[in-house]
Amino acid sequence: MKIAIDGPAAAGKTTLARRLAQALGFLFVPTGAMYRAAALAHQRGLPLEETEITVGENGRVFLNGEDVTDLLSNPALDELSSRLAAEPRVRARLVELQRRIAEGRNVVMEGRDIGTVVLPDAELKIFLWATLEERARRRQREQGGSFAEVLEAIRRRDERDSTRSCSPLRPAPDAVVLDTTDKTPDEVLKMALKLVEERRARLAS
Ligand code: DC
Repeated sequence: MKIAIDGPAAAGKTTLARRLAQALGFLFVPTGAMYRAAALAHQRGLPLEETEITVGENGRVFLNGEDVTDLLSNPALDELSSRLAAEPRVRARLVELQRRIAEGRNVVMEGRDIGTVVLPDAELKIFLWATLEERARRRQREQGGSFAEVLEAIRRRDERDSTRSCSPLRPAPDAVVLDTTDKTPDEVLKMALKLVEERRARLAS
């Protein structure tokens, strides 16, 4: 079974995808982290076409075999990864790597274009949403900094991710939209597990 989780920055995709994958025994694939690894490769002057980005246990991300996971939350990569993600040649390479990872596996893959482009045949597609203010509050709690600056950075990234011509962020027509604004991570996980059960029952009938 393949589960796609898409949505804007700081909507809780990574938290949900990680916990859902753990609960189901599926592979967790954070594609935002893969775009961040591509930005790191760019900073290091590595040509993306010859760079391998892979995902291991518990969402660890490897750049040419090196575990770079702990370098990826650097806020400098927020902006650079979003800019690179608008380039068709970068997306083509990352989509190729992501499909290779998912092939023949049970996965929970999170990102922006998973339900629309990477895994259009996913059995369950969730689009996670929360208001801009709530997402800025969550990100500020994780990273610190001024609320106004965090909010502006997320707003800018949302705009770029949603208006780029190549694979813009948008819900797939068959995605279930979950508004997490007033929900705890436990409540969101429970809702997602219920959707998985419903989907399994429908597939079995
Ligand atoms: O989820 P994140 O904030 O770590 O992602 C970093 C950037 O990568 C984000 O601004 C948009 C881009 N991205 C994308 O375009 N497509 C994906 N499937 C995942 C992330």
